Amino acid sequence: MNFPIVAPSILAADFANLQRDVELINRSEADWFHIDVMDGVFVPNISFGFPVMEAVRRHATKPLDVHLMIVQPERYIDAFAKAGAAAITVHYEACTHLHRTLTQIREAGCRAGVALNMQTPVEALADLTDAFDQVLIMTINPGFGGQKLLPLSIPKVQKMQRLLAMARSNALIGVDGGIDARTMGPVLDAGAHYFVAGTSVFGAKDPLDAVRTLKHLAPT
Ligand code: DX5
Ligand code: ZN
Repeated sequence: MNFPIVAPSILAADFANLQRDVELINRSEADWFHIDVMDGVFVPNISFGFPVMEAVRRHATKPLDVHLMIVQPERYIDAFAKAGAAAITVHYEACTHLHRTLTQIREAGCRAGVALNMQTPVEALADLTDAFDQVLIMTINPGFGGQKLLPLSIPKVQKMQRLLAMARSNALIGVDGGIDARTMGPVLDAGAHYFVAGTSVFGAKDPLDAVRTLKHLAPT
């Protein structure tokens, strides 16, 4: 894998021109499509569900990284796998039996991911490091694109990196929220492998160039 992995979030695309925006990302140096699913319960916003994801899938030539901001995500794992997810990330805070849900994701043939909200310490995953393939550290309070990265999330990336190294886990560390060419540096230095970016890609004058800039950022 060629790091850093860049995952543009479709949430910031123009839904009236979704095919155009998906094809734009196909042509870019981005690695994954990030698909933000919100249910209006786990987070105070509703984004989209299967019809939109399937529309993305019809045109996308890169893996779909699905981020479920929904309660009881275990009810929908198989459906998202069938809809073309390469990876499915559920929230720690949304899962009573996280290990069971992560196992279910792998059994459905997808990479298993777990996301941590701001208040959840990395140690919450200490006993489960074998059960996930990627971990998403939220760098904002989820629910909306276009927010500012909260700096207190940065030391968490470093703590997660240490925890995974101690456990000899190869899980990838991702960050999500407020990532742009300016904020990405410190998070990259802290040890993150993949970077979700919505507004800084689709809101840019030249999204191809915005992706290229993120992709070629080097640790200091
Ligand atoms: C927010 C989502 C993010 C969001 C990132 O709840 O999980 O993926 O789309 O958007 P930006 O890059 O605009 O902060
Ligand atoms: Zn997301």
